[in-house]
Amino acid sequence: MRARTGVPAGLANPRTATACVTARPYPCTLGYIALGSPYLRRRIGIRRGTVVNPVQIMAKPEVVVPLSKLHSPRDTLARPVRDLRISVMDRCNFRCPYCMPREKYHERYKFLGSHERLSFDEIVRLSRLFVRLGVRKLRLTGGEPLLRTNLSDLVGDLTAIPGVEDVALTTNGVLLSRHAAELKAAGLKRITVSLDSLDPEVFARMSGGFGGLADVLDGIEHARSAGLDPIKINAVIQRGLNDHTALDLVERFRGTGVIVRFIEYMDVGNRNDWRPDIVVPSKELVARIAERWPLRPLEREYRGDVAERYDFVDGAGEVGFISSVTQPFCGDCSRARLSSDGVIYTCLFATKGTSLRDALRGGATDDELLETIRNVWLARADRYSEKRAELRQAPGDHRKVEMFYIGG
Ligand SMILES: C[S@@+](CC[C@H](N)C(=O)[O-])C[C@H]1O[C@@H](n2cnc3c(N)ncnc32)[C@H](O)[C@@H]1O
Ligand code: SF4
Repeated sequence: MRARTGVPAGLANPRTATACVTARPYPCTLGYIALGSPYLRRRIGIRRGTVVNPVQIMAKPEVVVPLSKLHSPRDTLARPVRDLRISVMDRCNFRCPYCMPREKYHERYKFLGSHERLSFDEIVRLSRLFVRLGVRKLRLTGGEPLLRTNLSDLVGDLTAIPGVEDVALTTNGVLLSRHAAELKAAGLKRITVSLDSLDPEVFARMSGGFGGLADVLDGIEHARSAGLDPIKINAVIQRGLNDHTALDLVERFRGTGVIVRFIEYMDVGNRNDWRPDIVVPSKELVARIAERWPLRPLEREYRGDVAERYDFVDGAGEVGFISSVTQPFCGDCSRARLSSDGVIYTCLFATKGTSLRDALRGGATDDELLETIRNVWLARADRYSEKRAELRQAPGDHRKVEMFYIGG
């Protein structure tokens, strides 16, 4: 479908046109294109904020824009794409058994070579394209993103992309004290640090035999001094492993402004020997915490937010729960994922993705790449968490992609 630029007669008054030009890009009603579209402004040759007379624009009937280029695509369940998670590094300096069990990710395991990983320029180019399709939030993750040299350069480039409202980073925190200040200076506002227990022995078990608890705590302090805010702590809770130390995390960070979020142990990938009986349902944790520190439910931060939030009745801040196993949130999921080597996945539990790297390196134009991404999103039907039980029983090969590779 193609649309002729111009303003429908009923909307043809200068106030409407001025509002459109200064607004963010969005598809106008009645199939016409909003004048706020930077693409259209470029085509028509007007600057953002310019007061235009709609009649002048109507006098340029030669400007024809395919609607497919400007609409934010909706997948088969009418979900838009708003959030892009980028795995910048498949390697990690930990071996958390629930993510990269040590016996399977040993010294001889073959990770990507540096030429196989997307360069920063390639990541920025793809991010710009995702933004044109509706993405507003970018999260850098991995593997361990702070193992990627000069990561703050990438942060700087991504925060400068017009239309990006939020750039976030998830790290295990071991290297954070070295990088917090430069990340903040590059434009990062907030950070998520994974920390499963404050008990050194439990911590070592949960990280695959690595120490580093003191480094992670030091990293959190550096993040705070650098002004990263909010700082969120992600804690994966597994029954019989670290559930007895969950309340210590709450106690430690309550009243400090740092937000602890408990994540249900998920069956990501194929190598973590997931069993439903090791999952600690969030409801159980909410009840245990509320018994000691009364809680009050809060609204989700935004539509598509994965965390269920509560605040402490005594005013000591908030705590969150990510319950992908017991309370799946597929219906609102607007996340796409980009692996370290340039494959797009439309679900954390996907079995296959679509590579953009060869096209990118083979000279594809932005329009060609946009069309590929758009088609991938239009075909998206993933609802793994809602259909977990059924899909786990289904015959055939359902080997999922690993989380460190597509980004947690
Ligand atoms: C894959 S990690 C990547 C970033 C970084 N290495 C870190 O640990 O924060 C991102 C998040 O995924 C979580 N995660 C990994 N495997 C998980 C699993 N099986 N279930 C639930 N969360 C998991 C981690 O705890 C972490 O918070
Ligand atoms: S959860 Fe993060 S720190 Fe742990 S092994 Fe996976 S990527 Fe590494």
